Amino acid sequence: MTRLARAVLVTTICLLALVAACTDDVSTAAADVDVVQPVYDFTPTGDDPITPLPTHVVLDARKVALGESLFRDPILSPEGDVACVTCHELGRGGCDGRRTSDLPGHAPWLVNTPTIFNVAYNFKFHWGGAFTDLDHQLTAPVTSPRALATTYDDIVKRLSASAEYRAAFQDVFSDGVTAANFRDVMVTYERSLITPNARFDQYLRGDKQALTDEERAGYELFKSHGCISCHQGVNIGGNMFQRFGALRDYFVERGRVTEGDLGRYNVTKREEDRHVFRVPSLRNVAVTAPYFHDGAVKTLEEAVQIMSEYQLGRPVTDDQLRLLVAFLKTLTGEYQGKVLL
Ligand code: HEC
Ligand code: HEC
Repeated sequence: MTRLARAVLVTTICLLALVAACTDDVSTAAADVDVVQPVYDFTPTGDDPITPLPTHVVLDARKVALGESLFRDPILSPEGDVACVTCHELGRGGCDGRRTSDLPGHAPWLVNTPTIFNVAYNFKFHWGGAFTDLDHQLTAPVTSPRALATTYDDIVKRLSASAEYRAAFQDVFSDGVTAANFRDVMVTYERSLITPNARFDQYLRGDKQALTDEERAGYELFKSHGCISCHQGVNIGGNMFQRFGALRDYFVERGRVTEGDLGRYNVTKREEDRHVFRVPSLRNVAVTAPYFHDGAVKTLEEAVQIMSEYQLGRPVTDDQLRLLVAFLKTLTGEYQGKVLL
């Protein structure tokens, strides 16, 4: 190699390194921006399409505690029989294991209940992305005839009639029980519901032993097979809309199309949004069966087979299926120090 050629080569390599360093900086900055003030105990390198959940979030502990009581308390419902935990059970992956969470005497649901864990990391809420922030979303379970079937005014009345809740609100807010304060504590509590420290997150943070060879191969396949194009980011999903049945019609084959199957169309009424859904988070997916917006699929194996065929247009082999499922099982995190079951 001539001296000139070598000089050009060296300059090129330096420039490439500089570009790489800059790109790194940009993605690191983006990964740090977060609505819930995450505390990362590692520096994201920016070269993985998935980032670990923060290990904890900085929130007002008094609001979290009050929100937790309210989330569990059927006092929110007019008959005193329904609480948020009725459908979002923390001991059942933040959902309730049912196809749809129909309550006796209430209208039936058209969609499966999504998990409440890590909810703050979704870019929009509900299967069709009807809500952009948790404060607005709260109005849905509060007023829906399928859930609490009440109003903020009535909740304020019921809470104000309780000496304990009056005192608890007074403790945190100078103006005591109000609808705004109720919403504030509920949303603060929801932000606290994170499940960090999944084995996969331990792996991303640098502990290469946290995954077995098979699970690591499953992650590589998750990327090379194309799952990563839709399931990515800190929630491994929850950050974009996609059509369910991108490459093969799920709905024609399943039959009996309901309003719940229309997805984002219900929000926008635009033809191109028919059957478009928010890509769900795959965090804790091993403990959130049944799957899909219709809750029609009971096992992770079947869900992965359907994804591969309908979203990517090719079936998985038995080996591929085993690896993908092994990887998905490493996404189960911890709530308050205990691995979800
Ligand atoms: C009877 C069952 C039921 C009850 C009770 C219930 N929910 Fe839900 N929740 C659902 C269903 C079903 C959805 C999905 C609705 C949709 O996508 O159209 C949902 C969605 C959510 C979401 C959005 C999740 C996401 O990722 O999009 C949040 C947040 C939530 N509920 C919070 C609450 C809170 C807070 C309460 C109590 C005030 C509550 N829920 C009570 C069934 C319930
Ligand atoms: C083109 C985008 C896209 C690709 C590619 C994709 N998915 Fe999905 N995935 C979705 C959407 C959208 C849903 C929600 C479908 C519904 O319920 O309507 C979903 C749902 C799921 C669910 C069910 C989650 C739940 O809580 O109900 C699993 C599991 C899943 N995907 C795994 C995978 C795997 C594994 C791959 C690769 C083989 C993959 N996905 C590829 C878009 C995609």
